[in-house]
Amino acid sequence: MADGETLLFTPAVEAETAAAWEKVKDRITPIEWRMHAPLIAEINRLKREKDAVILAHNYMTPEIFHGVGDYVGDSLGLAREAARSNARTIIQAGVHFMAETSKILCPDKRVLIPDPRAGCSLASSITGADVRLIKQRYPGLPVVTYVNTTADVKAETDICCTSANAVQVVEMAAREWGVDKVILIPDVFLARNVARQTSVRIVAWEGKCMVHERFDAGDVRELRASYPDAQILAHPECPADVIAEADFAGSTAAMIEIVERQKPAQVIMLTECSMASNVQEASPRTRFIGPCNLCPHMKRISLQKIYESLRDGRYEVVIDPDIASRARAAVQRMIDMPPPERPARYDLVAASHHVDVELI
Ligand code: 13P
Ligand code: SF4
Repeated sequence: MADGETLLFTPAVEAETAAAWEKVKDRITPIEWRMHAPLIAEINRLKREKDAVILAHNYMTPEIFHGVGDYVGDSLGLAREAARSNARTIIQAGVHFMAETSKILCPDKRVLIPDPRAGCSLASSITGADVRLIKQRYPGLPVVTYVNTTADVKAETDICCTSANAVQVVEMAAREWGVDKVILIPDVFLARNVARQTSVRIVAWEGKCMVHERFDAGDVRELRASYPDAQILAHPECPADVIAEADFAGSTAAMIEIVERQKPAQVIMLTECSMASNVQEASPRTRFIGPCNLCPHMKRISLQKIYESLRDGRYEVVIDPDIASRARAAVQRMIDMPPPERPARYDLVAASHHVDVELI
């Protein structure tokens, strides 16, 4: 299909995309679906033709998540899946640091990001040069870096973590280095939330996720008063007092897991907006109540851009081989850790353990 040709909603396209429509029909109108379905059918055809796989983050819109994602999950799940994929091409339906992580793990594959401007406020909060200075200031301490960072930063890192395994990684680093203090960068809120779960002392950087920093404890109390029966779930990139007021905190995969397992009647997810839309399908009896915040970076990825990315082989992620190989050691160390039986929850009972972080 060349540029300018229109993809049509034919009976064949309708039949091919019927299973995906069943999953999204409570969230997407038939008018919108008639635009999405031809793209979904064509993307799925191109994937077969080009031996490509789409790794889609939980914050992708429902037509991407349910229509074309071959693997959907949290940052840790996507990295693990990239490492084990046999496809020649990976399309990262997520943000740039996720595509870099895939490329770091799969140097011989072609990794494409549908929009290279899909950044992250955490990833842009710190550079490799910053980490080199931090290491000079804290010699001998292990550097644990959240995957929401550039390859440059990962190259200066001892071991990466995600919100699904941060406590586990910090404790392992302290044990292996024989120290009681670990550098955990760049998310200051994640660092504070981890510090509440462990006796390891944490040195932190003041990076913030622009989606999760906007929630505050007053919001949670107000929501609790308005919806006393709703379960309030928060992502660990939220401020610590939000986590303390919530009923549960964990990675996006952990939030999905708890909703699917416990099937609460009402849920409030303090995270990115697409989460509720995507989880709704597996828990039709749960009522999802706002608020949520949109991530403008995640929302740069659309079906149209995924289609163009596959069709034209753009935009290829390229990382300097020396940086990639140093970054690989840190990411691989995380991947090689035994996977958690369930994505870690931030144990709210331990929230009384008020040890704050040391800010750099
Ligand atoms: P997880 O999917 O790992 O919970 O991360 C959330 C996030 O903000 C990714 O950008
Ligand atoms: Fe970055 Fe936050 Fe957007 Fe995730 S949700 S990509 S952490 S800005």
